[in-house]
Amino acid sequence: MRKIMVANPKGGCGKSTMAIHLASWFARCDEVVYVADLDRQQSSRQWLAQRPASLAPIRPWEPNAEGVYVAPQACSVAMLDTPAGLHGKALKKLLDAVDRVVVPVAPSQFDLLASRDFFEELAETKAVRKDRVGIAIVGMRVEPRTRSYQQLLEFLSQFDLPLVTCIRHAQRYVHAVESGITLFDSNGQAESDREQWQPLLDWLVTRR
Ligand SMILES: Nc1ncnc2c1ncn2[C@@H]1O[C@H](COP(=O)(O)OP(=O)(O)OP(=O)(O)O)[C@@H](O)[C@H]1O
Ligand SMILES: [Mg+2]
Repeated sequence: MRKIMVANPKGGCGKSTMAIHLASWFARCDEVVYVADLDRQQSSRQWLAQRPASLAPIRPWEPNAEGVYVAPQACSVAMLDTPAGLHGKALKKLLDAVDRVVVPVAPSQFDLLASRDFFEELAETKAVRKDRVGIAIVGMRVEPRTRSYQQLLEFLSQFDLPLVTCIRHAQRYVHAVESGITLFDSNGQAESDREQWQPLLDWLVTRR
């Protein structure tokens, strides 16, 4: 089973967008996908509730009576969408339970500063130090070869964390999510946008 967490304490950086896109890509690959929405805002759960039944199924993942997320036996991909502000004990606990962490980062100065403590915390965590958990950084709403992209690279060079890909800003993300779908549910359009995800998808399925 793949256990993937999408996290970054900065609000609005694209965590839920990332989590549901990855979930729907795996669902289209015939994986049995469950999504846990740990955020009180319940963005990905609401998206899931709108998802047309004709599409590749994605199941909501609920905590048990003790509030613990135990992945169902049939699950082959467990996706965790996490809230803004995640840090400390709660972060450590989740890092012990997953194999991969995807961190969407928007390239603004505020976003980078807000991510700094998180990256330092990640780097100090045992699961990361022992290389038990793989971390991928994704530039969200970033165009390669722009000044923002260079700033992001410079910022990340302090942490020895890989920038796996960049996803550009596009209104189709907003529209897709409003309809309970993702760019991976529509075949024709958005090919160039889907291509931007490929390095991340490859990273997720490659054995570490
Ligand atoms: N690549 C993109 N292009 C355009 N809009 C985007 C992109 N990624 C995310 N958005 C939009 O940005 C907003 C914030 O994204 P999202 O809700 O995924 O962030 P979040 O990190 O989950 O936020 P929160 O911390 O509040 O949970 C949403 O309206 C989403 O549709
Ligand atoms: Mg969210």
